[in-house]
Amino acid sequence: MSVDFEGLRVVSFESRKASEMAELIRAAGGTPVIAPSMREIPLEQNSEALTFAKLLLAGWIDVLILTTGVGTRLLVKSVSTKYDTRDFVDALNKIKIAALGPKSVAALWEMNIAPTILVPRPYTWSDLLATFDEQYRVDNKRVAVQEYGQSNPELVQALEDRGAQILPVPVYRWGLPEDLGPLRRAIRDIIGGDSGRVGFALFTSATQVRHVFQVAKMDGLEGKLREAFKEVCIGSVGPVASRAITEQGLTVDYEPDMPKMAHLVREMARRGGDLLDKKRTASENRVDTNQWRRIDMVWQPSTDGHPTIKDSVFMKACRREETPYTPIWIMRQAGRYQREYLRIRKKVTMLALCKTPELAAEVTLMAVDRLGVDAAIIFADILLVTEPMGLNLEFVKGEGPVIYNPVRTRADVDRLNKPDVNELAYVFDALKITRRALRPDIALIGFAGAPFTIASYMIEGGKSDHYVKTKTMMYRDQATWHALMEHLTKILIDYLNGQIAAGADAVQLFDSWVGSLSPDDYRQFVMPHVKRLIDGLDRSAPVIHFSTGNPALLTLMKDAGGDVIGLDWRSDLAVAWSILGDDVAVMGNMDPIVLYSSPQEIRAHVQAILDKAAGRPGHIFNLGHGVLPDMPPEHVAELVDAVHELSARS
Ligand code: CP3
Repeated sequence: MSVDFEGLRVVSFESRKASEMAELIRAAGGTPVIAPSMREIPLEQNSEALTFAKLLLAGWIDVLILTTGVGTRLLVKSVSTKYDTRDFVDALNKIKIAALGPKSVAALWEMNIAPTILVPRPYTWSDLLATFDEQYRVDNKRVAVQEYGQSNPELVQALEDRGAQILPVPVYRWGLPEDLGPLRRAIRDIIGGDSGRVGFALFTSATQVRHVFQVAKMDGLEGKLREAFKEVCIGSVGPVASRAITEQGLTVDYEPDMPKMAHLVREMARRGGDLLDKKRTASENRVDTNQWRRIDMVWQPSTDGHPTIKDSVFMKACRREETPYTPIWIMRQAGRYQREYLRIRKKVTMLALCKTPELAAEVTLMAVDRLGVDAAIIFADILLVTEPMGLNLEFVKGEGPVIYNPVRTRADVDRLNKPDVNELAYVFDALKITRRALRPDIALIGFAGAPFTIASYMIEGGKSDHYVKTKTMMYRDQATWHALMEHLTKILIDYLNGQIAAGADAVQLFDSWVGSLSPDDYRQFVMPHVKRLIDGLDRSAPVIHFSTGNPALLTLMKDAGGDVIGLDWRSDLAVAWSILGDDVAVMGNMDPIVLYSSPQEIRAHVQAILDKAAGRPGHIFNLGHGVLPDMPPEHVAELVDAVHELSARS
C-alpha cells in the first residue's frame, strides 16, 4: 500500500503557486516537474478591448453582443485603463446592446446600462439570432462580439451570413507565460523524455488545460501528447478543470471532493499508484484510456502469475486465514458523502441508478478507486426485491424508502407475486460488469436484506421507530407472519444465489433492524427463516451475517448461520468474538460517528479495535453501520489508511 508518489515524476502546470505546489508534491514523496502555463495579462494590455473602445467612441459600432459576465467586466476594466468611463458609458448608451444570459445583463447593470435587445432563455446563440431576426436587422451593421476564453465561430458566421460586419473583441485574463521553456520541456517529458517517465499530471485550472494543448499544438505535438496521456494519471482540482480536460478528449482519473490544491496532491499521492498501475495495464490491454469509464477496464489474463481472487485479503479473512494486514470495506462506501456520487445522482433517481447496470457498476468501482478498500459492494438496495413482489417502492428525498402499498393483512401477503428473481437481472448484470472491471484480487460483495428487515419496510411502508405494525402482525397473526417470512426467504435464496452466479465473491445479509427483537422472539419468529435462507445458499461464497442494535442476539445469529458475523459498535469486539467462538470470522465495528472527529481520534479508535482483535485471523474491519451523507470524505479515507497501516504485519 503506497500512500505517496514513491519518487515518481509529478507535473504541475501551476504558475502563481508554482513553488507551493512543488513543496506539496515533494512532501508527498514525488519529484515535482513544475511547468508554469499561465500569465496574468495586465488590463492595459488587452489591445482588442482598447481598439473596440476607440471605434465605439468614434461612432463606428452599431451593435455590441456581450457573451459572458466575467468577460464584460474585464472589457470595462481594460477600457477604463485608457478612456474615461463616463464617455464609454455614454457611447454604449447610443448603440444596440444584446446580452447573452443573466450574468452579462448583471455586468451591464453595474454601469447602469440596460440591454436594448433581450435574449430569451436558454440564452443560446440561436436564441440571440432569432431575437435579432425579429427585432433588429443586422445587415450592413457593424457588430462587435465580446468573447472570453473562446470564440464562437458559428455565431460569427451566422451574423456574417445576415450581412453584418463583425468585430471580434476577445478579452483575456490569462496569456501564455513569457518563458515557454519549462512548459515545452514538460510536454516533451510527458510524451517520453529522457529524464524519466512522468507518472502524474495535475491540473489546477481550466486555462492550464487549454494552454498546455495550445503550446503542444504550436510545436506540432498535440496528437503525441494526447496519446501519451493514455499512460499518465491525470488529476484535476475540481469540476471546471475536469470539464476542460474532458473537452480535450481525455479522462480525469482523480478529482478530490474538496476543490483545493493540497487535497488534490494528497489524495493523488494516496490513490495515484493504484490508479496509474490500472491505467497502464488498461492501456497495454488496448483500452483507450483517454475515453474510458471504470467499467471498460481490462485486466491481464489470470494465468501468468498475476493476482487473482485467491489472493484477496478480504476473502482470506472470511475463511479465517492469516493475512498481511486487516482488510477493510465500509458499509455505504459509495454514497452521498462523495461529490462524484452526488454528481451522478443529480442526473438520475436512486432507483434508476440501481436499474442501470453500467451506472451501478461505475459507482461501485468508483468507491474502490477513491478509497482503496479491500472489497467492493455492489451498488443496489435491500428493498429492490419488493418490486417484483408487486410493491410500489420509491426513495423519497429526505424521507428514505417509501412503499405505497404496504402489506398488512393475510390477503395482502397472499396477493404478493410469486417471486421471479429475473426481474432483478439488472443487479446480476451490474455484478457481471463490476466483476470484470474490478481488480482481480479485490472481492466483490453481493447482498440482500434479511427477511425481518425487509418485512419491516413492507409492513410499515417505510422507516419506523418502534416497528409497531410489524410486531403487531408478528404477535397477533403468527400464521400470516410466517407466511410472509417464508415468501421472502424463497425469493432471497434465489436472489443471492443469482448474485453469486453473476460474480459475487461473498454475500452479506443485512438484518439491520432485527435488533429491535428480544432473543426469545428472534428465536421464534426470525431464526428458522434465516437459517433456511443461509442453508439454501451456494456456500462457495462466504456469507456475512450482519445486524445492529442488540448484542444479545449474536450467538443466535451465529446459530442461524454465516461465515462472518457483522458487529455494530455496541458490542465489545473481544467479548463478542470470545462468545461467538473461534470458528467464525467477525466484521466491524467502529462507531461511524467517530468519523466526524479528527484523524487522531479515528486512529485511536482503529487501534483500540485492532487490539481487541489481537491479530487473530478472521477479522474484517468495517464501521458498525453505514457512512452518513455528511461525513467528511477525507476522514473515511483516513479510516482506510489507519486500518491498513496499524494492522500491517511484517
Ligand atoms: O453499502 C453500499 O455502498 C452499497 C449500497 C447499499 C445501499 N443500501 C445504497 C443506498 C446498501 C448495502 C444498502 C442496504 C440498505 N438499504 C439497508 C441495510 C444497510 C443499513 O444501512 O442498515 C437498508 C436498511 C436500506 C434501506 C434504505 N435505502 C434506506 C433506509 C435508505 C435511505 C437512507 C437515507 O439516508 O436516505 C435507502 C436509500 C439508499 N440506499 C441510498 C443509498 C446510497 C441513498 C440514496 C440516495 O442517493 O439518495
